[in-house]
Amino acid sequence: MADKKKQGAGLKSGPPRVVSGMRPTGSLHIGHLLGALRGWLALLDDADCYFFIADWHALTTGYEKTDDIAASGRDMLVDWLAAGLDPEKAVLFRQSAVKEHAELHLLLSMIVPTPWLIRNPTIKEQARELGLIQSDDEAEMNKINYGLLGYPILQSADVLIYRAQRVPVGIDQVPHLELMREVARRFNRLYGQVLPEPQALLTESPKIPGTDGRKMGKSYGNAVFLSDSAEEVDKKLSRMMTDPRRARRTDPGDPADCPAFNLHKVYCTDDEIAAVTEGCKTAGIGCLDCKKIMIKHVNADLDPIRERRAEIASRPDYLSDVLEHGNKRATEVAAATMADVRAAIGLE
Ligand code: TRP
Ligand code: SF4
Repeated sequence: MADKKKQGAGLKSGPPRVVSGMRPTGSLHIGHLLGALRGWLALLDDADCYFFIADWHALTTGYEKTDDIAASGRDMLVDWLAAGLDPEKAVLFRQSAVKEHAELHLLLSMIVPTPWLIRNPTIKEQARELGLIQSDDEAEMNKINYGLLGYPILQSADVLIYRAQRVPVGIDQVPHLELMREVARRFNRLYGQVLPEPQALLTESPKIPGTDGRKMGKSYGNAVFLSDSAEEVDKKLSRMMTDPRRARRTDPGDPADCPAFNLHKVYCTDDEIAAVTEGCKTAGIGCLDCKKIMIKHVNADLDPIRERRAEIASRPDYLSDVLEHGNKRATEVAAATMADVRAAIGLE
């Protein structure tokens, strides 16, 4: 045991290992693309990437309706691949196919004090959004299930089992990363240096509101999907909400108050943005013409994704092959870590 404690924390050399997951929400929209997904793509060449469909995490809130969980994961995988996640460059897998995550989750759960979980702001917010709890009151946490309370322990297992150095996530996941690091430290203190402490790699996410100006979300019916045709994108974005002051063509407006302009900011050239801003403030341009300038770029961005999607659709076994290969590679790494974990605890 004493010798074990002196060993390194299993840090591998070579490119940094990166792990991240997404709950299977089905078709992805351009908010996902411009945030999480492009963040992952940027890592493909310089990191040893593991990306997975977090289907067990989906059960933490969606346990009552599970009939579409497999299909949602599959749709999400198609979007990943279409967006350019290359299965030759990243290990793409399904969480529930690598049972070792569950074993590590169980073992970690033994060493996590419940207050660490009960004060978790991310879970509270999620539970509030879903209507599971009404207030921030800690007594309200009695209304949530054990699995949801343990969400960040499962997430810790997801990452620690690959001994990852970096975890690309959105800012909302920072509390989970903090907890993950605390869990790793506690494990290592108790049983020896086995699980390196990973760091968050914050994904920049430009604000992309839905076509009605609210937060973009599948359930709001306001999303532009990666799977939408060019015509659908044109139609949806042509109707996208603009500065309400521009009720008539002759009314001037301000791009700062225009939901659609968030897309201009991402997609248009500096010259276009300058021209649009001037045109908006002087009523020199109509909103439809203004949006057309941006729509052209959005569709140009989505065109290669559409092409890859069509190609994927023409290869019926491709998705299963990708997952089978990824699940196998992930399992190899996870199994090796678990052997060390069991040995450290004394469970051989
Ligand atoms: N909780 C993450 C989210 O909702 C998804 C997730 C599950 C994850 N396990 C993970 C992200 C491990 C990073 C690493 O976005
Ligand atoms: Fe928005 Fe352009 Fe209309 Fe101004 S002109 S409100 S920026 S769409």
